[in-house]
Amino acid sequence: MSKANHVAIIMDGNGRWAQSRSRPRTYGHIQGARVAKKIITAAVERGLSHLTLFAFSTENWQRPKTEVSFLMRLLAHQIRREQKTLMTNNVRFSTIGDLSALPNFAKQVVVDATKLTEDNTGLRLIFALNYGGQQEILNAVKKVAAEVQRGALNPEELTQETFSSFLDTHAFPPPDLIIRTSGEKRISNFILWSSAYSEMYFVEKHWPDFTAYDFDLALADFTKRSRRFGKVLESIPPVAVAP
Ligand code: IPE
Ligand code: IPE
Ligand code: MG
Repeated sequence: MSKANHVAIIMDGNGRWAQSRSRPRTYGHIQGARVAKKIITAAVERGLSHLTLFAFSTENWQRPKTEVSFLMRLLAHQIRREQKTLMTNNVRFSTIGDLSALPNFAKQVVVDATKLTEDNTGLRLIFALNYGGQQEILNAVKKVAAEVQRGALNPEELTQETFSSFLDTHAFPPPDLIIRTSGEKRISNFILWSSAYSEMYFVEKHWPDFTAYDFDLALADFTKRSRRFGKVLESIPPVAVAP
């Protein structure tokens, strides 16, 4: 029985949750932000090493301008407001994704929170902001190509380990468990490379209804999984009867 150390969450269903209450989608995002705070606290209390939260994807820019700008302000506001709690809980804040496209006020909040918490040694909290798994891989390919071009890297010697060192997610261990709320069963361009052997857990509830108890159920479910990584379990004989 092993414990999940790195949990990654696709926090989905804010809009549908609000719509089902005849409220604007933004109301769902506000509730969603409250749930994120609770789950971060739960992750600290449960002693997780890493928690990655998918907050904004590279595809989410295609939403109405008003929703995008609301999400940016909400994210910046939440990160700014939670800085003290991050310090009290010894949480180190980081991000994955391309920050350059974020509005300046959001970028500044992210830079400040990252700097402020850089010496904290507890939970690593990773916000995926303007993150896309395919873009992350493509950016790594571009960096590798540049290294090859300047003669610093021989393509023949490129290994999975060297390649992955060019990825944003390389700074962290691969997620043990990926949770997605709202009943959708897809990855939606979230962590692609390092999720190769992540366990998946899908919940029907929308994110604003997700609780610390639901989080515990997901963590408990993980402990029952048999992770084989393509191998066979030593306790099971390879053939039933000797040939
Ligand atoms: C998740 O909820 C939050 C973000 C993607 C930013 P959604 O906004 O995707 O809500 P649904 O999936 O439309 O209900
Ligand atoms: C994934 O949810 C992105 C985040 C949770 C930030 P989406 O709502 O954007 O994904 P799709 O469109 O349902 O695949
Ligand atoms: Mg969604």
